Amino acid sequence: MALTATPITPRFGAEISGIDVSRPLSDADFAAIKDAMDQWGVCVLRGTGFDNAAHVAFSRHFGHLETAPAVKNRPRRHPDTPEIFDASNLTPAGDILVDENMVLHKKGDRLWHTDSSFMEMRSAYSLLLAYEVPQEGGLTYFADMRSAYEDLPADIREKIATHEAEHSLWYSRMLAGFPITEEEIDARPKARQPMIMPQEATGRTAIYIGSHAMDVVGMLREEGRALIKYLIEFATQPQYSFGVSYQPGDLVIWDNLATMHRGGDFDIFNERRDMRRTTVREGDAPEQADDPFTAYFQTSNPAN
Ligand SMILES: [Fe+2]
Repeated sequence: MALTATPITPRFGAEISGIDVSRPLSDADFAAIKDAMDQWGVCVLRGTGFDNAAHVAFSRHFGHLETAPAVKNRPRRHPDTPEIFDASNLTPAGDILVDENMVLHKKGDRLWHTDSSFMEMRSAYSLLLAYEVPQEGGLTYFADMRSAYEDLPADIREKIATHEAEHSLWYSRMLAGFPITEEEIDARPKARQPMIMPQEATGRTAIYIGSHAMDVVGMLREEGRALIKYLIEFATQPQYSFGVSYQPGDLVIWDNLATMHRGGDFDIFNERRDMRRTTVREGDAPEQADDPFTAYFQTSNPAN
């Protein structure tokens, strides 16, 4: 059966069906999914029936999978599948997380961002699988950075074509209330990224920005931050965004180089939300270059 894509909004996001993901994917099926991703930027697959291993196997079709960071004094929730990034509100033992610093750290995910933009090696796709979902809230919201780019005033388009931004995970953590100072952030690693991302497959271009972006290179801090704020607000207007709600087993795939996303609020101290993510590195990075996240977190540990 052929893939069917049902649009979520006219230009952005689709629910896809018609592919049997309980079996290994054929090349033709994967090509159809890849085409749908190029066109829609975000694809939702309901009721996959995936477990960690199937999630990882499916994700590998998209490219090289990142390894989630090994963080000191914090065991992985899924030690057998290091490709699984834990995006839950749970401890490794499976209880609801109450540690204040960890709660504040995760709060940064509620801000509009694109995954891993604070790393030199960017992430292309994220594949988020729902295991447990709250009764209320806990959606993921997405923003269409290609349509937003196309609708930007021409002078802004010109400005961002010639500038880069510096990104830090800790900047978005600070914005969300994590206790860290500007000076401490400036002393930690940052990644310099273009502010636009041309997309080979479609010929379209996306704005590449988000809450990890803290400065525009060559602009005064205030001026750069005003531009970043403008771009995020512009791109997250209702005509460019939508939310996805989940049932266990649902998978959402997004293209980090063409979208932003944010987690929606829910009752984090009383409801369980177990979401797990695989992350596909951009391009054909060699296996031996893997695990830059552990090095990153060793120099800037959230438990510090
Ligand atoms: Fe994210």
